[in-house]
Amino acid sequence: MYCVRKVTEDLYWVGGTDRRLELFENIFPIPGGVSYNSYLLLDEKTVLFDTVDDSIGRQFLENIEAVLDGRALDYLVINHMEPDHCSLIDDLLLRYPGLQIIGNAKTFPMIDQFYNIDLEGKKNVIKEGDTFSCGKHTLHFVMAPMVHWPEAMMTYDAADKILFSADAFGTFGAMSGTIFNDEVNFDRDWLDDARRYYTNIVGKYGAQVQNVLKKASALDIRYICPLHGPIWRNHLEYIIDKYDTWSKYEPEVRGVMIACASMYGNTENAANVLAAKLADAGITHMIVHDISRTHVSQLIADSFKYSHLVLAAPTYNGGIYPIMANFLDDMKALNIQNRTVAVLGNGSWAPMSSKLMEAKVSEMKNMTLLTENFAVKSSLKNEQMHALDELAKTLVGSLKGEN
Ligand code: FEO
Repeated sequence: MYCVRKVTEDLYWVGGTDRRLELFENIFPIPGGVSYNSYLLLDEKTVLFDTVDDSIGRQFLENIEAVLDGRALDYLVINHMEPDHCSLIDDLLLRYPGLQIIGNAKTFPMIDQFYNIDLEGKKNVIKEGDTFSCGKHTLHFVMAPMVHWPEAMMTYDAADKILFSADAFGTFGAMSGTIFNDEVNFDRDWLDDARRYYTNIVGKYGAQVQNVLKKASALDIRYICPLHGPIWRNHLEYIIDKYDTWSKYEPEVRGVMIACASMYGNTENAANVLAAKLADAGITHMIVHDISRTHVSQLIADSFKYSHLVLAAPTYNGGIYPIMANFLDDMKALNIQNRTVAVLGNGSWAPMSSKLMEAKVSEMKNMTLLTENFAVKSSLKNEQMHALDELAKTLVGSLKGEN
């Protein structure tokens, strides 16, 4: 049975939800599932905005058939060519042979790369600033390269002031019948997943997101229709502000994430003692992660969220404990910058991890290091308490803006 919802008088949400997929992009755990949004406009011409992932293909095709109610599908606008949004192009062409495809110059080569579809006579290549009339609705095309792939673009419907924003403003998470931001408690139930989605999927491309935000600020937008997660139809400034903060690599919270790797609990003990000292000093915006138990995508999300990071890990094979090394590589790959960092190492005979972690942090942009080769030898002892107190004091001073 079809399962759709009306967005505006002429526009329908015809996407669906996958609650079975374990790993998005076969990397990111999504215990709460994910939605794939697609939108169908009924005007003089019928226009579909993006398709969906294979996993919900049957539902999607049924949704389109129901909304079209006997009409043909005239146009498909492809805002993004990642296969979670374009797996059904050939199925649509089989069902609607007159279908025309609208994309930009980078869209069509990607279709050829991923699929074997003959699009002779069906390609409509648009560029920045072009418009397309569907009848009552005129579409404007806004290029959004690297948000999240080079061919990504957004489409703006001037009649209803809708921005089809591709991956931007999306989030992990299945939708529960409620598809609009004002039908859910986004700040309580969705923000953490939205941050984890943005920071890991698009986090590297802050400058490109800033460019698109600038272009979008010139548009009168009443609805944001992303490819994943709730549609925004009020308080748009909330999610736009979040994107502005994240893409400028500014922290949302003045507080600390302590990311700790520990083989036998001794490094974790030192991290816990430090956390307790911070709490004694009134620091409450703080989270401690055992990074062997916390997926790196969560660590990345919290690195974007918090202003201060403490990285604690033992030495392993003369280097950094591998899970911490991987996290540091991911931080660099995702362009994390503008953070204040303290490093807490450990080693039993040749402690190297603090030096090596500090070297990796120094390779990132605009990071302030509060430590220099701070390490415990196997476990924290009384004679190091003074040094740990000093570190806690320095962190508290930095958090309170005193140094
Ligand atoms: Fe949801 Fe970049 O695809």
